[in-house]
Amino acid sequence: MPDRTMDQFQYRDRTLFCEDVPVTELAKRYGTPLYVYSQAALLEKLNEVQTAFAAAKPIVCYSVKANGNLSIARLMGQHGAGFDVTSEGEFRRALAAGPAGAKVVFAGVGKTDAEIEFALRNGVFLFDVESEQELHTIATIAHKIGVTAPVALRVNPDLPPKTHVKTDTSVKGVKFGLDIETIVDVAKTVVNNPGVAIVGLHMHLGSPILKADPYRMGAEKGLNLIKQFRAQGHDIRYLNMGGGFGINYRKDEAKPASAFAEAILPALKESGCQLILEPGRFIVGNSAILLSRVLFTKSTGGKHYVIQDAAMNDLIRPTLYGSFHRIWPVTPAANVPETPDVNGDPDDPHPFRDMPNCFKQDVVGPVCESGDYLAKDRPLPGVTRGDLLAVFSAGAYGMTMASNYNSRPRAAEVLVTGRTHRLIRRRETFADLVACEQDCLS
Ligand code: LLP
Repeated sequence: MPDRTMDQFQYRDRTLFCEDVPVTELAKRYGTPLYVYSQAALLEKLNEVQTAFAAAKPIVCYSVKANGNLSIARLMGQHGAGFDVTSEGEFRRALAAGPAGAKVVFAGVGKTDAEIEFALRNGVFLFDVESEQELHTIATIAHKIGVTAPVALRVNPDLPPKTHVKTDTSVKGVKFGLDIETIVDVAKTVVNNPGVAIVGLHMHLGSPILKADPYRMGAEKGLNLIKQFRAQGHDIRYLNMGGGFGINYRKDEAKPASAFAEAILPALKESGCQLILEPGRFIVGNSAILLSRVLFTKSTGGKHYVIQDAAMNDLIRPTLYGSFHRIWPVTPAANVPETPDVNGDPDDPHPFRDMPNCFKQDVVGPVCESGDYLAKDRPLPGVTRGDLLAVFSAGAYGMTMASNYNSRPRAAEVLVTGRTHRLIRRRETFADLVACEQDCLS
């Protein structure tokens, strides 16, 4: 079976291409580190979600936090997506790039009064409300400006652990949502409150989730709550199942969107609600590579290091979550096998492990921390100064989590479609780094 993990990134004659562009050309033109996105991959994955859930005519709200670049947000909006946002900044991105009237849902445990008012004045489709105080604050602000705020209560459905502890949002004891035991009592406090209309139920289980079953359990628990809200007199019309659909970081460990649809649709149908989804990673995760250039190699303390110009400030996921991102040379010395060798070991699917000259190496960046690495003990062919590396599955939570640590300008981003490439974010400069600072003692 061919590896379909990142279809739009394939080797031709020992050179990695993004769609029809050799990425070597992009490195030369735009420099490194560089995020390279495939427009075809983005649209394929959005379409996969829309198609899998078509029977329910879902409102697909692309999760801006995964990748908020204006061009990517615009592409999503042009192809029928609304937006899931978690701050005024993300809301403004949705307004700037989305088509007029695009639906924006606003989640997050800590919305400020100013953000709430901004959302109300800019046509928020639904607030996903995460606490009783937030609910009453929204009601007060809405009342003050003479509107009724549309609200979905976010429940923590109290499911077993299902992903990394830092990104599991539906286990007991996390800050997200309202407790499933008390959410119905909270809903009761705003029956007949003219400031808010509870019209939906929201949950976001965590991210990434590789199994469909938690969605089945969540939707069933949701259905039960919706019945109780309705009994209180709330006109519940929306069930928002959030995002979290996992992707193939290694090989084919993730589920297709259809598996999640199968899990969610039965309870949804019984609820009679309109479905909302908030996928981010599923759409953008495997649409991009982070392209880097090898600066040096060295062997020290019994280990081999590839020191390249992308660092934890560019892609923090390996450092923060111990995440696995495949890393391949852009122009390998030997042919890349069409079927990457997994040798029955799903944890080591690296296509180079059986290639000549392959040995375990740590891929690290220039940042001054031992935690600055993109991969540890990774079987890779030997590389030399100037070689290019591709860090795969970098489209989601790559650039949005990038920082200027060590005063490193953030990377540029380029969007490829067919043979065409366009810069969608220029590389930062030193002037950008100090733009907000006042050198007041000079
Ligand atoms: N909806 C809500 C309310 C969320 O909190 C999130 C993600 C999403 C939707 C989108 O989830 P997705 O479909 O992208 O999995 N930085 C971490 C992931 C944090 C996810 C935060 N919330 C990472 O790099 O793995």
